Amino acid sequence: MKIGVFDSGLGGLVITKAFIRHLPQYDYLYYGDSRHLPYGEKTSGRILSYTLAAMRYLIARDCKMIIVACNTATSIALRYIQQRFLPAEAPDVKVLGVVIPTAETAVENGARRIGVAATTATVRSQIYQTELHKLNSELIVKEIAVPELVPAIENNDFSRAEAVVGAVAPKFKDCDSLILGCTHYPLVKAFFQSALAGVRIVSQDELMAAKLQDYLIRHPEIERCLSQNGQYRFEVSSLNHHAQKVAARLFPDIPVEKADNK
Ligand code: DGL
Repeated sequence: MKIGVFDSGLGGLVITKAFIRHLPQYDYLYYGDSRHLPYGEKTSGRILSYTLAAMRYLIARDCKMIIVACNTATSIALRYIQQRFLPAEAPDVKVLGVVIPTAETAVENGARRIGVAATTATVRSQIYQTELHKLNSELIVKEIAVPELVPAIENNDFSRAEAVVGAVAPKFKDCDSLILGCTHYPLVKAFFQSALAGVRIVSQDELMAAKLQDYLIRHPEIERCLSQNGQYRFEVSSLNHHAQKVAARLFPDIPVEKADNK
């Protein structure tokens, strides 16, 4: 059984790269639903139905453990997946998201005034505010949507992405920490770092591998089911040359392939 990783596009590959670096022995299947990207600008109903379709695809391809490496899908769909979908359709499968591990890490790092840059749907859900306040109700949380950033990254237009980051960064100058609340954003982490010297950047590519490892140590019954052939396969629902170039930045030696799901 494999570890499945899901995102709306290529952002989750950043997280997958960290998984493979830290836990190379497992078999990974990545699925990016690039045909429906950007999720961040869709209604909650659409995000939920695309995410459920992705879960079914990964489960049918022998994934026992799935990481929803998409903040938007985590915000809108994770609770439904865990409480309704899995008990009804796949009780043996575990699905984890990215928001709670990220909120925990920010607080463990001592953050007090926390900025969150994310998609429109993630900001609308207020999930970061909710989860951060569960950890410490006195935290000051400022969530700002940056809808232009995902399309710029997916189109391999990094000069546009730099301009977008430059325009939004001043709004976070009064924060001590900034959560990159979208898995595409670690690809432009350097732009945030140089625009916000002195603000601690909380980036999911630096924290999710340790959280997954910790989960597998605490759940040996899941870990035992995972195959360990070091095989990695990356699929997207729609493939274009921009996507191939962005993916090649992360994995020059492993091609991204078109998923076999219509
Ligand atoms: N990478 C996704 C996230 O973490 C969002 C991309 C999109 O808008 O589809 O939120």
